[in-house]
Amino acid sequence: MRTPIIAGNWKMNKTAVSAVEFVNEIKAALDAISGIDKVVCPPFLAIPGVAAALAGTSIGVGAQNMHFEPNGAYTGEVAADMLTPFCQYVILGHSERREYFAETDDGVNRKIKVALAHGLTPIVCVGESLAQNEAGETVSFVSGQVQAAFAGFNEADAAKCVVAYEPIWAIGTGRSANAQQAGDIIASAVRQPLTALFGHDTAQQIRIQYGGSVKPGNIADYMAHPDIDGALVGGASLVPSFVELVQNAV
Ligand code: 13P
Repeated sequence: MRTPIIAGNWKMNKTAVSAVEFVNEIKAALDAISGIDKVVCPPFLAIPGVAAALAGTSIGVGAQNMHFEPNGAYTGEVAADMLTPFCQYVILGHSERREYFAETDDGVNRKIKVALAHGLTPIVCVGESLAQNEAGETVSFVSGQVQAAFAGFNEADAAKCVVAYEPIWAIGTGRSANAQQAGDIIASAVRQPLTALFGHDTAQQIRIQYGGSVKPGNIADYMAHPDIDGALVGGASLVPSFVELVQNAV
């Protein structure tokens, strides 16, 4: 059985101070929810403070990005070993990184390798645009992203990863994908290519989240689909009702 996982992607929201205030507000109630992995992914500067505030709880900390080189002349970037004292997870290949910061499938593949080598659990993001969706290209495009992201991995490494299927047209729009459709796409465009790459047993171990306008009121619908193992939550992870969202997932 796969343990479900809900991660809050705070994106470029909250300062070092307001982030710690927020986690101090929610941590007792969030910590008390069992049977599900809970993760918050603050902006870089808030990570050390949030990690300190959450020490000793069951709540994990993740980064939202990471560079694939270990160090060097990469102005503005953050390396894996800068994250490992504070983080257990790292979001890689989010559609906003692919769209606004020119991240490529190859770069995402390299980042996953480095994250795994440092013991970080990658949350690998895939998802199609509205135009691709309307053109009927969802399954071919998303399965291509999965194949590219996981090229060159062995079964043991693949099994450690989390994948987040986030249709771009559902992110921050309030227009969430229907749970049945999202789960069916996850089965055909994510788990199926993982099965082809790594075999049935490994693919069955990999946790796959849905992301895009997930709220306390719709999370239960997603969790009811057998192929959806949790959610990557944006806007609804920034407010105290994130606790209710996680409660409604179990
Ligand atoms: P929203 O939940 O705000 O739609 O964002 C989803 C997302 O991009 C999480 O990574």
